[in-house]
Amino acid sequence: MADNRPIGVFDSGIGGLTVLREIWDLMPGEGTVYFGDNGRAPYGTKSKSTVIKYSLQNMHFLEQQDVKMIVIACNTASAHAYKALSEKSDVPVIEVVTPGARCAAGTTRNGKIGIIATKGSVNSGVYKEAVERFAAPGTKIYQQACPLFVSLAEEGWWDNEVTSLVCSRYLTPLKEAGIDTLVLGCTHYPLLSGAIRKFMGDGVTLINAGKAVAQVVRETLEENGLSCGGTQEPLRRFYTSDEPELFEEVASPFLGRGLPSGTLKYNTDRFDV
Ligand code: DGL
Repeated sequence: MADNRPIGVFDSGIGGLTVLREIWDLMPGEGTVYFGDNGRAPYGTKSKSTVIKYSLQNMHFLEQQDVKMIVIACNTASAHAYKALSEKSDVPVIEVVTPGARCAAGTTRNGKIGIIATKGSVNSGVYKEAVERFAAPGTKIYQQACPLFVSLAEEGWWDNEVTSLVCSRYLTPLKEAGIDTLVLGCTHYPLLSGAIRKFMGDGVTLINAGKAVAQVVRETLEENGLSCGGTQEPLRRFYTSDEPELFEEVASPFLGRGLPSGTLKYNTDRFDV
């Protein structure tokens, strides 16, 4: 039986679009409802309890859109709130930390892995633990919080001289440590991958978990009998808690194909959690 309900995807802002794009590429027939909490971003500098509250509110909003799955397309929210969301949800919940961690562990050749993420994700230790779970014993893990990367991504400054300078400040210790694998442990960071690659050099493999997350989404839909029928034009709806024009201005060059359009404003803080 086909299930043509959409997949719900949320992030603190536009970073989750890096995951959404991979979902579209892998499952072009699946409908999606995306919520970017731009009005309350960033999450990466907020406390665990605040991120859990925001994430539950976002989930309740998506549930009202009759989604068949929730994708937490934000590493910080995945690190802090996955447990709370999966306990409270009636539909499968997908997080983005584990797929990237598994991929990094399988990629390194010299046993030196770097993780860049928000302060919240780094301090939670969740990413490091996830990589350790999959990596060979003795693997060295170097973490670095890169808070300014989020503002650069939201601003659309994906590869310019300011971005290069910020890359050099944050990434020099990882380069000096000789890592050969770098986890982009924040869904905003793939937007800056050109600048990051330029600084780190071709010898370092960048791990963007988006593709691996899309695979997990597909497997989970199949396992639960939730895949779509794939004949109708898929729904592609967008919501933001800030101004839709601002959201579309930054998102369009990234998503291409004139998307998103018709973005609606919604504040999820009206949900009591
Ligand atoms: N998208 C968030 C993440 O993946 C980062 C942006 C923020 O701090 O809100 O961690």
